[in-house]
Amino acid sequence: IREATTTSPYDSILKFVNSSNFPNRASFPNGFLFGAGSSALQIEGGCHEGGRGLGIWDDIVFNQNKGGYGDSDKFATKIEHYKRYKEDVQHLKRLGVNSYRMSISWNRIMPDGTLKGGINQEGINFYNNLINELLRNGIEPFVGIMHFDYPLDLKQKFGGFLNRSIVKYYKEYSEFLFKTYGDRVKHWTTFNEAEVVAIYQFMFNIDHISTDQSCQNTKICTQSYIILHNFLLAHATTSKLYRTKFQAIQGGEIGLALSAGRYVPYSSKSEDVIATQRLMDFYWGWVLDPLFHGDYPKIMKKLVGNRLPKFTKKEKHMLKGSADFVGINYYTSHFARHEPNRTKIMYDNYDALAVSETINAEGNSLGYKDQYGWIDVYPEGLYNMLVYIKKKYKNPKIYITENGTPSSKLPNPLRDEHRIAYVAAHINATKLAIDDGVNVRGYFVWSAFDTFEFQGGYSGNWGLYHVDFNDSLKRIPTDTAKWYSKYLTHNLIEK
Ligand code: NOJ
Repeated sequence: IREATTTSPYDSILKFVNSSNFPNRASFPNGFLFGAGSSALQIEGGCHEGGRGLGIWDDIVFNQNKGGYGDSDKFATKIEHYKRYKEDVQHLKRLGVNSYRMSISWNRIMPDGTLKGGINQEGINFYNNLINELLRNGIEPFVGIMHFDYPLDLKQKFGGFLNRSIVKYYKEYSEFLFKTYGDRVKHWTTFNEAEVVAIYQFMFNIDHISTDQSCQNTKICTQSYIILHNFLLAHATTSKLYRTKFQAIQGGEIGLALSAGRYVPYSSKSEDVIATQRLMDFYWGWVLDPLFHGDYPKIMKKLVGNRLPKFTKKEKHMLKGSADFVGINYYTSHFARHEPNRTKIMYDNYDALAVSETINAEGNSLGYKDQYGWIDVYPEGLYNMLVYIKKKYKNPKIYITENGTPSSKLPNPLRDEHRIAYVAAHINATKLAIDDGVNVRGYFVWSAFDTFEFQGGYSGNWGLYHVDFNDSLKRIPTDTAKWYSKYLTHNLIEK
């Protein structure tokens, strides 16, 4: 019996990639950052090494493990980037990237989250060494101040981001980073996927949810609004500090990253069209309106009412214009359907009276199914999102801080042509947006190395470099890594 040979859905994209119409690297604006990303919690390991304090995730995985976290036995060591960072920088160099998106672990710098509790010199040295190593190899660090994790002590003492007093600790920690690394780090992001974290209550950290009745009905509950409110205040406070004390001398920039996919109406009915804008406002407007207009979207105020915290006049002023750039993590897009019946909105936006769907009223999906990944591939959604942000927020500077696809179901993790197609198609969408006047300054593939995914452990194989757990954590370039490297290094001449 012979296996039927079907044309792979990626063939046409791959053909385009190899054609002279595909935008080469040199056609991007001067100084454009082409990079790859990771985060401290997802690759460092060394959880119990070098004086690191515990983060909220250590507690979830080691002590609670309520959600049955995949590969939790590998959580403490991960891919041992903490020990092998020098080698990892060489892998990045081989990729040909000029920037690397990384994050700093708050509890590695300040084990209990406070300056008073003491700083951890070994942790400070680690990031100094990593940053220096990157720069020596021609790679600019693009640094996240907080990527999902934060010191457990702060949560246990006063509820962490549910409590506004976290803002002063966040500011103190950030100030320490600016002072220590700001001479070399020129790109800072305060939060990663602020809205996702608020929605999922620190990613499925159900002990928050159990205290909040409104969370029984929906993933966005009153506590989500409080957490995001405190993120925004921490962002604005820190950005103000950076601007007044550091920016002029250090010459860097500070922004925030969110996970943004375009919503598309589920049908042509006007109620779905209106619901689409509502979801845009409830997800991205929730973060971006305060940063650019100084307050939450009107529709949110109307529908959430008193459960949505309010900003004072002074805070509004501080928020407005507090981001030098927007970081976009783009993976896929969804349809938006109007849903007046709240009891049917279990896992979606309860207050927005809308749900996201992957199939529209006519039974079609957006884009094509990524057979080895998990999502519908829809690069047009990236283009549309970029144009949307340009129009709505007066053309801010944008970095695509994450874009990529896993290869969960791939028989051989190294033969990942679906990912080449995915990355290339999104690079192309980015270029089209730039041609249409969107101010995009960088693009980062997620991720540089296989990362620990919160619930899924290592099942996703997200990395450009595959990490072999059966062979002493050897980093092996996937076909996408080879393609990306070729694209970045052999493609510098303008056509
Ligand atoms: C978004 C997050 O920022 C990152 O940490 C995660 O690994 C990827 N998405 C993939 O799920």
